[in-house]
Parts: sequence; C-alpha cells; structure tokens
Amino acid sequence: MIRSVVLGCGSYLPAQALTNDALIEARKIDSSDEWIQRRTGIKQRHIAAEGEKTSDLATQAARAALSDAKLTIVDIDMIVLATTSPDDALPATAAKVQANLGMDHGFAFDVQAVCSGFVYALTIADNFIRLGQARHALVIGAETFSRLMDWNDRTTSVLFGDGAGAVVIGAREGQGTNDDQGILSTHLHSDGRQYDLLHTDESRCVRMNGKEVFRHAVINLASVVDEALEATGFKPEEIDWLVPHQANQRIIDGTGKKLGLPAERVISTVALHANTSAASIPLALATAVLDGRIKRGQIVLLDAMGAGFTWGAAVIRW
Ligand code: UT7
Repeated sequence: MIRSVVLGCGSYLPAQALTNDALIEARKIDSSDEWIQRRTGIKQRHIAAEGEKTSDLATQAARAALSDAKLTIVDIDMIVLATTSPDDALPATAAKVQANLGMDHGFAFDVQAVCSGFVYALTIADNFIRLGQARHALVIGAETFSRLMDWNDRTTSVLFGDGAGAVVIGAREGQGTNDDQGILSTHLHSDGRQYDLLHTDESRCVRMNGKEVFRHAVINLASVVDEALEATGFKPEEIDWLVPHQANQRIIDGTGKKLGLPAERVISTVALHANTSAASIPLALATAVLDGRIKRGQIVLLDAMGAGFTWGAAVIRW
C-alpha cells in the first residue's frame, strides 16, 4: 500500500514583526496588549511588506521545504497551495509559485478552505499520491491575511498575521498498518449554513461573529479529533504531538485538555505568529520539527477549523 510520507518542511515569515502595542499604535486600534494576550494568547504577528505577495511567501517556504527534503523542483509532480489571500482572483497563486520555482512540468492549483486550507490541501495531495497519480507533492499554506483587515474593527484586526509554511510529501511503500510511516488518516468536513459567521464583506474585509465561531470551533474540533482517533484506533495517550490551527490559545488549550495531552505535547505558535489562517499549521509544524521536538516515527495529529465552516484533521506518523 502506498503512503504519503512527509519528507521535509519549511516556513517563511515576513521580516516585519509587530507587537500588540506596536500594531495598536500604528493602526490606532482601540485595544490593549493586556486584552489581546488574555483573550487570545497573541503577542505579535508578522506583516508582509508593501509589494510582498502571498506567492512570494509561499515560494520561500516551498524552497525551504524542498531543501529540507533534499529534493529539487524537478522531483515535484504537483503543487497544492492553500490560501484565502491569493495574489489575484485569477489565475491561481500556485501557478505563480510554480513559475517562481522554475517548474515547467506537472500541475499546480489553489485550495480555498480558509483556516482549514492546509488540512484540505494535504488530504488532496495524499489522495493523488496514494492513487499513484503523483509521486512527490509540494503542499503549501500561505497568507497575507493582513490585507483582509478593516483596521477600525478591533474584533478582527488584532487577531491575524501573514506567513507561509510548506511540506514535501512523497510516495513510499507501507503495510497498511498504523506502524507505517506517513499520513495514516485524514478527515474533512464543511457546513455552508454557517457561511455568514465568518466572511468578507463587499470591501473585502473580514467580518466575524467571534463568540459563535469560538463555540463551533470547540465542538467541531473535538468531534473531528474523536473521529480521527476512532478511525486509526489510537488512544489519546498515543498521540505524541497535537499541532492545531493557531487561532486562539484558549481553543488550543481546550482541545489539548479534552485529549488529556499535557501542554508540553501541544505545539503553539499563536503568541508569535497570531492567526495566519491556512499557513498556521505548516508554520507550527516547521517550527516544532526544526527545533527538534517532532521526531521521526512519532504520531502527529493536525486539526483545523475555519470559515465556511470547514474543519478537518490528519493523523501522521512522522
Ligand atoms: O481562524 C478561524 C477560526 N477563528 C477563531 O477560532 C476565532 C474564534 N473566536 C475567538 O477567538 C474569540 O471569540 C475572540 C478572540 C475573537 C474574542 O474573544 P471573546 O472572549 O469571545 O470576546 P467577545 O467578542 O465576547 O468580546 C468581549 C469584550 C466586548 O466588550 P463588551 O461587550 O463586553 O463591553 C468587546 O467589545 O471585549 C471587547 N473587545 C475588545 N476589547 C479590546 C473585542 N475586541 C477587542 C479588542 N480589544 N481587540
């Protein structure tokens, strides 16, 4: 049986990091560092420079992932890019990344599932690989979410940041058991009835009913994590690392607690990156792999929830 094994990962953050106080000062937001940290855990976020596009961030992260995997672009058959902040409405931002990387074969496309985008993109690439239609895939989450902000709306403008993360996955032979290395199971959901709770308005600014999104996030993440455990047969204590979407430290803590995982086994980067939507999971993954926490052979559980609503999970033996 073919499995998709994670061969490398990488990330990229724009140079400018703004602390809560610096953002409040720069954008004249009626908020405080104390409120933002207490309600969300966020301390700072990176903001793309003028002219720095989502494709630029994605390209840098992709290069880092390729180098970590010790592969070149010639080895890659497909690029799947999850983003909610594409360079343009068309063509796909993935096409620009394909060109930036000098890839003149294969195919590239975008996936729009907002904060669940990376889990969606990984699931799609995994299916291509397991079907034998691709051997190596570059899966990227990249956002310039700061460009979707109404800076006068303090209920959203302090929450988001820019960045990109990427993984290279490749086909390897497995036995079809949980001992296999690679992606062991993926789970996707959406419920379009909740469209209006988190959306962009006519001026392309994010509008969110934070309380309702929070409530649904806790419920949906708990249920998809249960689904992933049931599908694989893993007990919560067998999960080495939870790598959740980074929206709010309180949601991250809640999911970890429900699983009975000590905080040391939950990867959190929300303090430093804020909510980078589709980029948050690959950014967190790259952070924890490169600093040596996530090791080969360990079980990693990803979970995400975003506008749509969309939500999903993936279980990976690293
Ligand atoms: O990534 C996709 C998924 N997104 C999420 O998961 C986000 C989910 N939601 C949340 O994380 C939280 O709901 C927020 C962080 C957005 C808000 O936290 P909350 O604890 O739900 O606060 P709230 O919306 O109930 O607001 C509490 C108070 C309000 O004032 P009153 O009505 O109590 O006087 C708000 O006006 O806090 C006020 N407030 C702020 N105060 C200072 C809202 N935003 C701010 C702010 N600074 N930036």
